[in-house]
Amino acid sequence: MTTDTTPPTRQPGANIPPIKIYPDKFSNHVIVVTGASQGIGRRTASLFASQGASVVLVDIAGEKLAALATELTAQGATVVQKVCDLTQEAAVGAMIEEVIASHGKIDVLVHLAGIYPFIPILNVKTADYARIMSVNMDSCFYLTRAILPFMQKAGYGRIIHTSTAGTLAPSPGMSAYIASKGAVAAFTRAVATEAGPGVTINAVSPAMIFTESTWSNPGARGVADAILARQQVKRVGLPSDVAHMICFIASPESEWITGHMFDVSGGAVFT
Ligand SMILES: NC(=O)c1ccc[n+]([C@@H]2O[C@H](COP(=O)([O-])OP(=O)(O)OC[C@H]3O[C@@H](n4cnc5c(N)ncnc54)[C@H](O)[C@@H]3O)[C@@H](O)[C@H]2O)c1
Repeated sequence: MTTDTTPPTRQPGANIPPIKIYPDKFSNHVIVVTGASQGIGRRTASLFASQGASVVLVDIAGEKLAALATELTAQGATVVQKVCDLTQEAAVGAMIEEVIASHGKIDVLVHLAGIYPFIPILNVKTADYARIMSVNMDSCFYLTRAILPFMQKAGYGRIIHTSTAGTLAPSPGMSAYIASKGAVAAFTRAVATEAGPGVTINAVSPAMIFTESTWSNPGARGVADAILARQQVKRVGLPSDVAHMICFIASPESEWITGHMFDVSGGAVFT
């Protein structure tokens, strides 16, 4: 059993060498990270910042966003914060225009903002369904359509969306959420056919990751135990596991990889 205080964050018997960070890996890159206030987004934004990127932190939760901006700036990072409700088409368009005006370009979009309420299907209200689709999928559409013209003009760009391993190995109570993330996966594959030279569009598909949101949700803990039992790597998934995958997809090295879903699941699912 996993518990609040003793999640297995290390793989018994493994001897993993220290991970190397290259401080200038993303220098001259402008990277927009949504959902940056907490969880996977916070870790991903911090990892890019520690590798020299100019990071635009985007979230609806302004206080936490400001705290992260202060923390990263104190560490010498170059960051700005944008409070934005990504379900609002006009707000997304204005936010992207602001970033282009201030930074001149956007090299990478990492879209991690999302919601995943645990609601058994018979209790899902139409308003719940609409909200989940709006936060997870509408935002994906608004952001992609707003950013793509600038990347196409530049001849370079990396767009990274977030799906879920749950589309392949679903858990109860997540049907509306999984539908929204299935839509994100299909959209990602389809729009990759229109990205243009130098621009790639991919998605990460995490399984259960140990974040504030997952661990504070009583419905999620049983799911975490079931997934851990299926995993080949016998520890919980961490935000850094997803962040490192994102950093690879976001790099110039990934030029020949597009329209792909990257499972980050400790071997809970095989694709
Ligand atoms: N944690 C997991 O186990 C897991 C597994 C698979 C997929 N994912 C996906 O990964 C992403 C990040 O997950 P997490 O666990 O870090 O989530 P989280 O709940 O910790 O963080 C999500 C962030 O999105 C922001 N957000 C929500 N609605 C928004 C809106 N309308 N506009 C702007 N920002 C908004 C929240 O304020 C929050 O900071 C999500 O898309 C989630 O669906 C997570």
